[in-house]
This record gives sequence, structure tokens and C-alpha cells, in this order.
Amino acid sequence: MAEIFITRRVFRGVIDILEKEGHTIDINESDRILPARELVKRAHGKTGLICLLNDSIDSVVMDKLPSLKVISNIAVGYDNIDIVAATQRGIMVTNTPGVLTETTADLVFALLLGAARRIPEADQFIRAGKFKNWQLLQPHMGVDIYEKTLGIVGMGAIGQAVAKRATKGFDMRVIYFSSSRKERAEKEFGAEFVTFNELLSLSNFISIHVPLTEKTKHMFSTEAFKKMKNTAILINTARGPVVDETALVEAIKDGQIRGAALDVFEEEPSIHPELIKMEENVVLAPHIGSASIETRLRMAKMAARNMVQGLKGNRPPNLVNKRLDSRKETNK
Ligand code: DGY
Repeated sequence: MAEIFITRRVFRGVIDILEKEGHTIDINESDRILPARELVKRAHGKTGLICLLNDSIDSVVMDKLPSLKVISNIAVGYDNIDIVAATQRGIMVTNTPGVLTETTADLVFALLLGAARRIPEADQFIRAGKFKNWQLLQPHMGVDIYEKTLGIVGMGAIGQAVAKRATKGFDMRVIYFSSSRKERAEKEFGAEFVTFNELLSLSNFISIHVPLTEKTKHMFSTEAFKKMKNTAILINTARGPVVDETALVEAIKDGQIRGAALDVFEEEPSIHPELIKMEENVVLAPHIGSASIETRLRMAKMAARNMVQGLKGNRPPNLVNKRLDSRKETNK
């Protein structure tokens, strides 16, 4: 039986899974992000840590938590955790892949449609009492989506779910840039593998699906925006720092691209003030890619199950630090 610290409020179902195994749980019921010092104080002496994507778990934190055996992140992305440091300290790290794929792909299309057809702006127009008559030269004319070219950057599970919607629902041409060729995407959705520069210059819409790493940070920079069509719309539901937000603001202001639909931000929850002002060409959402009730519950329960297995000394189903796993395997 172990002691677990959960950094934020979670569904009752998560607590049930852990308590059924006899574990003792301490939860940060305030639901605010704990500064490292407070997190360490609360998690001290615990074997398990269940955290969210905005809890930063680095080597300094880990060094102050010598009892820690398992870190279970309730997110598919795990750039908030120093994986190398965890592996060096023999701490298992787990994530929640798969269960949020379709939900996130749905949001990509919600954002894409919202930006292309100017839906948030049209909504504001009505609420301001400005809808007086139907006009041919409507003030909110957008752009078509069907049969346009969608560029997908990062053709993992979510990228492929987006490609499916694009080709099967909107007859779009899908081109992609990824770390490797994806046979399924090419066969089933006719996705064409292109270079990053080709993707930038050919796409009407670009959707980002790469994890945040040293390599992908600021992948969308001034240089990249210069290569994009001036009618292009950028959609980001992955991680904010993949886009240089200041460069994005400049690119939109200068008319280098048409606009953006963003669910993630460079300094979350702060948002570049210029983006807030850009009501006509930017759609904003507060990191809700996976935020359906069903999906968030699935993610949280998956994190709890990963924790249970890790604490038993088993390989958790969604172990991130595979090196740790192979070390355990060879030790058997
Ligand atoms: C994740 O899981 O990494 C998403 O960003 C939040 O659902």
C-alpha cells in the first residue's frame, strides 16, 4: 500500500480506483498550480505522484522527493516532466495516449471551421444586436474548407485522426511532414509526404501535431511564416512553444498569413495581448483539445491505472521512459 499525492482535483472514479487498491491519497483540493516548494512539501514521503501538464516536475523537484517511484501524468504530452532525470532516478513516468485522439481531432476541426468561417466573430455580431438583414456582401464572409489543402505537421495518432476527418468529411487534399512516413495515412487518406518547406508553401490550412521538444520549439518562426500562403490559417492544438507567438503576431499583422486558431500558448495561461485584440482573424480556446467529459474521465482513469500498475512494480500500460522498462526487463 502506498501514499499518493494528486496535484489537482480529479474525478471521484480516480480516487475509487486507487483506494480500492488500498492506497492513501492526498489531493490538492484548491485546484491551483502549486509552486515547486509547496508541491515538494505535499508530495514528500509519497511513492506516487499524479500530476497535470502544467505541473513542472524537473530534476530539482525529483531530488527532493527520494521516495518517488511513479509519476503519472494526466495528459498525452509529457514535456512538463524531465524524463531523463526520472529515468536516471529509476522513477517510472506514464502518460495517457489514445483516449484523447478523436476528441482532439474534433476540436481541430471546430477551430478550423471557426477560423475559416469566422464563427466567433459572427456570434459577437449577433449578440451586439448588429444583425439587421441578410446581405450578399455579408461582413463575415469566410473561406471554403472543402477541397482545400490541409498540411499536417506530425502525423501521429492525432494527426491521422485529423487527416481522416479532412479527407472523408471535407474532401480535402492532405499533405504531411513527420519524423517518418506513415503508411496508413498514405493508404487510407491519400496523405502525401512532403518536406516542411513544401508543406508551408502548399497548405491552405496547417495543423500542428508534434510534441514539444528542443527540435520543435519555435518550428513556426518568422522564416516559416514567410513561406506560407498569405491566405493560410494555422491551427495549433499541440503545444504553444512550437509556435513563436511574437513572430505569429507579426505575420498576421503584416498579412503574411490570414490568421490562426489556437488552443495552446507559449506562456500558458498568459496570451500575447495582440492575439487577444485580433478578433477578426484569430480564434482562441483555453487548451480544451481533450476537454469532453468522456475523454477527461478516460484520461484520468487511465492515469490511475498506470499508477496502480507502477506501484505494484509492474510495467504500467503507458510507460513513457522505455529505457527504464528495458533495464527492468534485463534485470529479470
Ligand atoms: C495532452 O494530453 O497533452 C493535451 O494537451 C491535454 O489534453
